[in-house]
Amino acid sequence: MIVLTVLLLAVVLTCVPYLVTIALAEDPATADASPIYGVTIPPGYKQWELIAPAEEAAPLDELRAVIGNQTALDAYQAGKLPFPDGAILVKRAWKRKQSPEFASATIPGEATTVQVMVKDARKYAATGGWGFGRFVNGKPVDEAQHRTCFACHEARVKSRDYVFTKLAP
Ligand code: HEC
Repeated sequence: MIVLTVLLLAVVLTCVPYLVTIALAEDPATADASPIYGVTIPPGYKQWELIAPAEEAAPLDELRAVIGNQTALDAYQAGKLPFPDGAILVKRAWKRKQSPEFASATIPGEATTVQVMVKDARKYAATGGWGFGRFVNGKPVDEAQHRTCFACHEARVKSRDYVFTKLAP
């Protein structure tokens, strides 16, 4: 009996580190976070307010909507830069589709990407205070793509706290 107990204990103790590893690897907070930045898709973002729509020409042919959380919206409305910590901007994108009911109307087709910028001046000091994430079907894209984000935003809109989109009139 004692031998059996010791044996059982040995098996359990051997397994624990593996079980912990598996649990950590499948933690949704890490599996769904962007490389480099660790940014995730913010819950409830589909209910956020519109900052501005945008359209992308061929070859992407996309309709887009930039939306923001309350912190971002307050900063926009106050016209204050830089954006405060906690501001989040999300760019939703869809394939452009002709309306089946009305030929001249363009409507959203399938969703393509969700892109996120999160402001945390200290955590993301090396990239203008912004953390970036690009997601396809809810999963973050690879590290190489995440290396392009800040460079483009920095080159063109550094003077506007690295943000392209202005509040639509
Ligand atoms: C080659 C240039 C370029 C690159 C690279 C780029 N962006 Fe942008 N981004 C833009 C432009 C232009 C806009 C303005 C909206 C539009 O036209 O789609 C924008 C807008 C955004 C917005 C809305 C806030 C704003 O600045 O207007 C987010 C969020 C965003 N991009 C995230 C990302 C992420 C995440 C990456 C990297 C995976 C990335 N971007 C890479 C050009 C770029």
